[in-house]
Amino acid sequence: MNSNVLVTRRIPDESIGMLEAACGVVDVNPHDRAMTREEFLAAARDRDGLLCLLTEDIDDEVLDLSPDLKGVAIYAVGYNNIDVDACTRRGIPVTNTPDVLTDTTADIAWALMFAAARRVAEGDRYVREGRFSGWGPLLMLGSDVTGATLGIVGAGRIGTATAKRAAGFSMPIVYASRRRSEAIERLGARYLPLDDLLRESDFVSLHVPLTTETTHLISERELDLMKSTAYLINTTRGPVVDEKALVRALRDGVIAGAGLDVFEREPELEPGLADLENVVMLPHVGSGTVATRIRMGNTAAANLIAMVNGADPPNCVNPEWKEYRT
Ligand code: GLV
Ligand code: GLV
Repeated sequence: MNSNVLVTRRIPDESIGMLEAACGVVDVNPHDRAMTREEFLAAARDRDGLLCLLTEDIDDEVLDLSPDLKGVAIYAVGYNNIDVDACTRRGIPVTNTPDVLTDTTADIAWALMFAAARRVAEGDRYVREGRFSGWGPLLMLGSDVTGATLGIVGAGRIGTATAKRAAGFSMPIVYASRRRSEAIERLGARYLPLDDLLRESDFVSLHVPLTTETTHLISERELDLMKSTAYLINTTRGPVVDEKALVRALRDGVIAGAGLDVFEREPELEPGLADLENVVMLPHVGSGTVATRIRMGNTAAANLIAMVNGADPPNCVNPEWKEYRT
């Protein structure tokens, strides 16, 4: 009850309430924006727990500020912004919010597939700008989703949930992954090396976490392997795709289009990207439904409360932290 925690951005009230009931001090970023690095460093000093977002880097400099830090809870499933090894070496557990956002994020991958293939955002702009002058047989034609081959890259929870939805659209599924996955194969997905998946798929949907191995996993060479009629969908992390190469591929017709929820240098866009009609973009809202954001907040809060109380948190990503606790 005496713990002192920092929450780096306003999250749903219910989750803040959980923290207030369990901790002595709960400081929440008062601004309606991410903290600057300076603000974060000033606020992160002498804390027992940190509840942070994908917008704050957690590294040695941050960890040095709180000698008694008992845990870092991230309000996200992806935790590439956290130096997990640095936390582990100090005996600090790190948690994320898996499971609760799986279906919501799989839904957005589908929203982007349809939006890209059927030109939904482009069509909306067209109508809104008063350019729609009547039905035409060749007006704004797109590509079929039904029956197309879906390529899933990364057969984790979200990749598998995305594959599951393909049954309703009669789509053959192929997948590439570090490991074979029974769960996705039960859905009829066929395992392929990445290069073959890129050659065969009509939609390539990315679901790998961002690591040093997956940075620029999709670059010029990979885009060249894709069909010129295919679409690339990215709902994971921007740096998995070489955005410069993607702009060139979209401009030169190397692929038909793309649907992006994430960007390489978020929130900045690669020059040229926003000038292209064959890309549809969202502001990183994959998990962005009211219900899911509450579930993520409550999950992150429950993880943090367990950690500041010295209990095992439900969603620990570095269980080996215990070997280093002094
Ligand atoms: C959001 O991008 C997340 O990792 O939860
Ligand atoms: C995320 O939860 C994933 O494993 O895809």
